[in-house]
Amino acid sequence: MLSMRTGPFLVVFAAAVFATVTGCVSMMASKPIIPVKEYEKLIVGRLDADYVGDQACLAKCHAHDQYKKYFEASTMGAQLSAESGLPLVNCESCHGPGSLAIKGIKDVDGVQTCDYETFIDLDGLPKQAQALICMKCHSSNATFNLHNWNSGVHNMSGVSCFDCHKVHKGADLKVHPKDVAQLCYSCHQYIKAEFALPTHHPVPEQRVNCLDCHDPHGTANEKQLREATVKEVCTACHAEKEGPFAYEHADVTEDCRNCHVSHGSVNDGLLTSKMPYLCYQCHESHRVTGSTDRATRCTDCHTEIHGTDSPSNSATRPGVFLK
Ligand code: HEC
Ligand code: HEC
Ligand code: HEC
Ligand code: HEC
Ligand code: HEC
Ligand code: HEC
Ligand code: HEC
Ligand code: HEC
Ligand code: HEC
Repeated sequence: MLSMRTGPFLVVFAAAVFATVTGCVSMMASKPIIPVKEYEKLIVGRLDADYVGDQACLAKCHAHDQYKKYFEASTMGAQLSAESGLPLVNCESCHGPGSLAIKGIKDVDGVQTCDYETFIDLDGLPKQAQALICMKCHSSNATFNLHNWNSGVHNMSGVSCFDCHKVHKGADLKVHPKDVAQLCYSCHQYIKAEFALPTHHPVPEQRVNCLDCHDPHGTANEKQLREATVKEVCTACHAEKEGPFAYEHADVTEDCRNCHVSHGSVNDGLLTSKMPYLCYQCHESHRVTGSTDRATRCTDCHTEIHGTDSPSNSATRPGVFLK
């Protein structure tokens, strides 16, 4: 159920925002946005209140001094002046117009308290509406990596900007690279277990980051991957495996997942199964000339398993991935 406050908000919002995002963008690029007041009020569904500015908001309530300090030190806070050429960002940009809150200031047990219930109930908004609060400025043109947000898995699954970006926890609104994995694990616990397996991409060691392969703001690709295919994701770093080679492992290497997992594995080399069973999925073992034993340590001889440009040193069979 939508509350009385979020209900009207959504209706007006859906209609208004859609038509406005494009306008917002072009202004962001060229000249400062002095919010078109009535229009903004329409967007946040508060035609009955007015914008009063940070000074009026903060002068009386020192409870928020710390928020103000963080905010002013942030890149968004740096846009407090219209001369910056960027959209004006202040407390009311996200919380909505504050005149009613100021009017309702009262003394509660010696503490000056504004009528905060007249602000937008940010936490209570449906998740996708929360994101739209941010998207009115961070449109896809202004923040390029958000251009797949709307159709992205996170948005569609009810994850909002607020879940990852803590606006009032400090001056840095971005997520620091070293904190990314923990943030993701907070919802994706089994992924944490995968990176704890004996072989894993060195994410816990901080040498590889979730963001190298995924964009949590959504992409046009499966699993929010940064590249169109898994192979392209992998060869962005392991370029030597890309090919094309004179001797290819058929089209098996077109998807590295035929043999590897992406995160972590109980087997050596991030393999999907132990050797030689990995190879047995598609081949039989064989005897090597001069021996009666079945050869099982496949890559001891077939070292160039990813493909190679040199014919093998086998006189009879070129292209069997020998050194
Ligand atoms: C970029 C958007 C944005 C701006 C700008 C912003 N806030 Fe917030 N504020 C939020 C969000 C989102 C929340 C909800 C808490 C959360 O999930 O992080 C919030 C929560 C709050 C709360 C309630 C905190 C709590 O513990 O429940 C207060 C008070 C507040 N903000 C004050 C301010 C003041 C004062 C300013 C200006 C200095 C400001 N905000 C500017 C987005 C913003
Ligand atoms: C009124 C416009 C406006 C709103 C609303 C807004 N932002 Fe911003 N934001 C900006 C501007 C301007 C910048 C600085 C320029 C830039 O990085 O694009 C910025 C920067 C950021 C950054 C980058 C900080 C950095 O250090 O590079 C993050 C992250 C961010 N905003 C998140 C949010 C989130 C989350 C919300 C919603 C709770 C939000 N913003 C709402 C205008 C806005
Ligand atoms: C699942 C977590 C997650 C969600 C949800 C999320 N972000 Fe981010 N965002 C991140 C991480 C991690 C980074 C740091 C990586 C980076 O700087 O590109 C980031 C970076 C950013 C930046 C800085 C990008 C740059 O190029 O400097 C902005 C702006 C931003 N996010 C805005 C948003 C907005 C607006 C939303 C909601 C529409 C949102 N984010 C939703 C995790 C998230
Ligand atoms: C607030 C919870 C939350 C956080 C934080 C979060 N996610 Fe998610 N994520 C979800 C939900 C919910 C889904 C959709 C359901 C699912 O597939 O698990 C999802 C889906 C995904 C998917 C797509 C899975 C699929 O089947 O298509 C990827 C990839 C992903 N998240 C990566 C990340 C990364 C990387 C981070 C950290 C930057 C992150 N997530 C942070 C909740 C979260
Ligand atoms: C080296 C690249 C790479 C890194 C680093 C990486 N991933 Fe992935 N991730 C992938 C690929 C590729 C897939 C999809 C294919 C697969 O393995 O099935 C995937 C799938 C996922 C999925 C969907 C899983 C499912 O069961 O469908 C989630 C969620 C996810 N990753 C989260 C994360 C998180 C969180 C991190 C960081 C802790 C991370 N990934 C680091 C490449 C990576
Ligand atoms: C961001 C760069 C990056 C991407 C993208 C990447 N890798 Fe890696 N990979 C690494 C690094 C770094 C190592 C560790 C190398 C080391 O320890 O010397 C590694 C190691 C490996 C190993 C050897 C693991 C071991 O323990 O022996 C395999 C196999 C591998 N990657 C396969 C893949 C596959 C498959 C993909 C695509 C899903 C992929 N990589 C994507 C950087 C990357
Ligand atoms: C037919 C199975 C197979 C496929 C497909 C495959 N690999 Fe491998 N890969 C292996 C085996 C087996 C090893 C271990 C080799 C060893 O231990 O001698 C390995 C090792 C690796 C290593 C670590 C050792 C090294 O040679 O650098 C990386 C990195 C790697 N593979 C990346 C990839 C990438 C990227 C792809 C997709 C383009 C891919 N692999 C596709 C079987 C495969
Ligand atoms: C997903 C199935 C698959 C897996 C797993 C696989 N291969 Fe292959 N392999 C093929 C296909 C398909 C061909 C090309 C068709 C053929 O000639 O049999 C091929 C060709 C080869 C060839 C060349 C054969 C020839 O006649 O030229 C060798 C050698 C080979 N694989 C060795 C291995 C080894 C060693 C492993 C384990 C590390 C392995 N393969 C894993 C599917 C696979
Ligand atoms: C001691 C080295 C050695 C080992 C170990 C080895 N091979 Fe071979 N393999 C060769 C040589 C050499 C050839 C070329 C044909 C020949 O000369 O007998 C070959 C040929 C092949 C061929 C293509 C010819 C055919 O029979 O279709 C495949 C497929 C193959 N090996 C798969 C495997 C698999 C799977 C394993 C592990 C179970 C493996 N090999 C272990 C040396 C080895």
